[in-house]
Amino acid sequence: MLKLGVIGTGWISSSFVEAALLTKQYDIDAVYSRTLAGAVSFTEDWDHVAVYNELGEFFQHDLDVIYIASPNSLHFEHAKLAIEAGHNVIVEKPAFSNPKELAEIIALAESKGKLFFEAARNIHEDAYKKIKDFLADKEVIGADFTYSKYSSKMPALLEGKKLPNKFNKAFSGGLLADLGVYMLYGSVYWFGKPDSAYYNAVVLPSGVDLSGVGCLDYGNYKVAVKNAGNFNSYLPSEIYTTTGTLVLDAISEIKSAKFIDLEGNEEKLVCKPAKHNLYDEAVDFAGILNDPAGQQAAYQELMDYALAVAETSYKMRERAGIVYDAD
Ligand SMILES: NC(=O)c1ccc[n+]([C@@H]2O[C@H](COP(=O)([O-])OP(=O)(O)OC[C@H]3O[C@@H](n4cnc5c(N)ncnc54)[C@H](OP(=O)(O)O)[C@@H]3O)[C@@H](O)[C@H]2O)c1
Repeated sequence: MLKLGVIGTGWISSSFVEAALLTKQYDIDAVYSRTLAGAVSFTEDWDHVAVYNELGEFFQHDLDVIYIASPNSLHFEHAKLAIEAGHNVIVEKPAFSNPKELAEIIALAESKGKLFFEAARNIHEDAYKKIKDFLADKEVIGADFTYSKYSSKMPALLEGKKLPNKFNKAFSGGLLADLGVYMLYGSVYWFGKPDSAYYNAVVLPSGVDLSGVGCLDYGNYKVAVKNAGNFNSYLPSEIYTTTGTLVLDAISEIKSAKFIDLEGNEEKLVCKPAKHNLYDEAVDFAGILNDPAGQQAAYQELMDYALAVAETSYKMRERAGIVYDAD
């Protein structure tokens, strides 16, 4: 059993703990919150979980891995302190504000013999692997990815009293760093790292993007990416090949994928639904944590994806003139 610690007590942390426990490979052992009351309330559903409001004390707890789901800009400091204290870390996406921070954490983890994971859940889905296998004998000539969802933080943004962390550049917010990450991971996982990337964004007065349209440039083909936090989109995503089009109902939590060839014949890809939307990543991380030497290649692959995504996202932000405090 992996002894799990948690930093940050938002709904995503509860959701990750739920998924981790479902895998039967983790125990929840300790939680850090800025307030003890916050930590106590977070742990209501589980017995014997230690609660902390001092990071230094939390890091002294005997843990196998710490899941970090604080606001984006705090991931770096939290991960750095955790690794220096001798812990492996799973960091929510986007793991860090920029590729420089990511490279520093990867190097630190390596020097301390610790593991770092970015919790980019979509590439761990069964459908992602199925699609990769399906595309293996096809020539990709383009793709169109879309992920727009009316944010639960929109009312607070519109009210204008307190800027939500999600739309704050001090917290490395914005849509590309939120929903955009899933599309960048999809593209990097299926097609590799793009040669270049562009982003045309609707930038809020706070300095981060509320929505935007991007292009990932693979030389002889392009991948369009669209994300927004102020409306819902019901469009599917598509991958174009020389022999037909693969239609995905979504770019994250894919439930259906069908290939329509040039004559209009349809072939359905069977995608196994996950027990929980964070279950597959929790299983993959546990596999590597339990056997780091045997899983070295799988770990390196995850690092390569993380670096490619961070570099692409940074390039896109630069093009859109979005500069974080952390940059
Ligand atoms: N994989 C997914 O599906 C998914 C979904 C949603 C979010 N996320 C990621 O999860 C992370 C957290 O997102 P979120 O929406 O939960 O963020 P959030 O509500 O802004 O903050 C998360 C937690 O961090 C702590 N926190 C909040 N403001 C803070 C501050 N100013 N200083 C220090 N700590 C603070 C709070 O915990 P305490 O009060 O206990 O300290 C809070 O519950 C982000 O990186 C986000 O991108 C991932």
